[in-house]
Amino acid sequence: MTFLFRSDQTRGAIFASAFAEALPDLSFSMDEKSVDPDSVRYLITWTVPDDLDRYRNLEILFSIGAGVDQFNLDRVPNHVKIVRMIEDGIVRMMQEYVLMAVLALHRNLPAYLDQQRRRLWAPVPQVQAGECRIGILGLGMLAQAVIERLQLLGFPIAGWSRSARTLDGVVCHHGADGLDTMLRASDILICLLPLTDETRGFLDASLFAKMPKGAALIHAGRGPQLDHAALMDAIDSGHLSAAMTDVTDPEPLPEAHPFWTHPKIIVTPHIASVTQPASAARIVIDNIKRHLCGLDPIGLVDRRLGY
Ligand code: NDP
Ligand code: OXD
Repeated sequence: MTFLFRSDQTRGAIFASAFAEALPDLSFSMDEKSVDPDSVRYLITWTVPDDLDRYRNLEILFSIGAGVDQFNLDRVPNHVKIVRMIEDGIVRMMQEYVLMAVLALHRNLPAYLDQQRRRLWAPVPQVQAGECRIGILGLGMLAQAVIERLQLLGFPIAGWSRSARTLDGVVCHHGADGLDTMLRASDILICLLPLTDETRGFLDASLFAKMPKGAALIHAGRGPQLDHAALMDAIDSGHLSAAMTDVTDPEPLPEAHPFWTHPKIIVTPHIASVTQPASAARIVIDNIKRHLCGLDPIGLVDRRLGY
């Protein structure tokens, strides 16, 4: 039985030593060319390999990242379990990123950076955290971790998910009406939705129009969820005040893209969270052990929902 690691060699070396210690009977390979395809039961990768069919005995396909939208699920046989990455490193980094972005937008950093470039010393009116309403699209693993941190700073928080949820201290919404109610009361809107057919192009002109004047956007989901032109229009017309996005479509942005130089848009190169190999290896090992005991792995993807 083999675990095939299909990603960069540096992370692979960390996985290899964790596997050697925890699962010594499972052979570990980083070499697609020399591995016996019939021996491969587990595969970890960012994208589905073109020759997936050759792994006829594959049981679990692990994503090396939290998202699985980059997998073409139609190409993965139905009996193969698909598992996304749920590990502490990703969670901690997303907490840091969103906290940084919320504070940057709440404390008017884009305006001050612009003023600095223009040698302008001019305080902008400031509201307190308790008056800055935060709305979060998605109430999953990452959103919940982020909420814990934001609550410590006193921001009022609302969230929106597909199914109804109850979270301490959070006004939870779901469904189309719930979305509109939340948008109307979001001074900072954070997108932490997975990319699915339903969420592609979700951050568009009609959504921005429902937000209060002067509101801001943080986007840490996936690039194709955001309509770039609609965001620019909403900001340039003065309806939205600013945005910070970690994800774009395409990535990287083309050289001439207006986001690069827009004074009210901060772009980061998809670095909000990065899988940390030591903690990721531990989680994957635990999941293989669960699978061997007949339990479902943590992070099992629901193919019908696409996340
Ligand atoms: P989860 O699967 O734990 O949570 C997803 C949440 O989104 C759930 O609350 C779900 O609702 C909600 N949701 C999904 N579809 C819809 C919909 N159509 N309408 C309303 N709500 C919906 O995901 P994670 O929190 O782990 O991750 C979220 C995403 O963050 C990832 O898929 C990935 O795209 C992105 N990400 C970005 C990174 C970066 O570096 N920028 C790093 C890691 C992840 P329900 O609760 O009802 O299921
Ligand atoms: C992920 C990512 O999904 O890096 O982990 O975006």
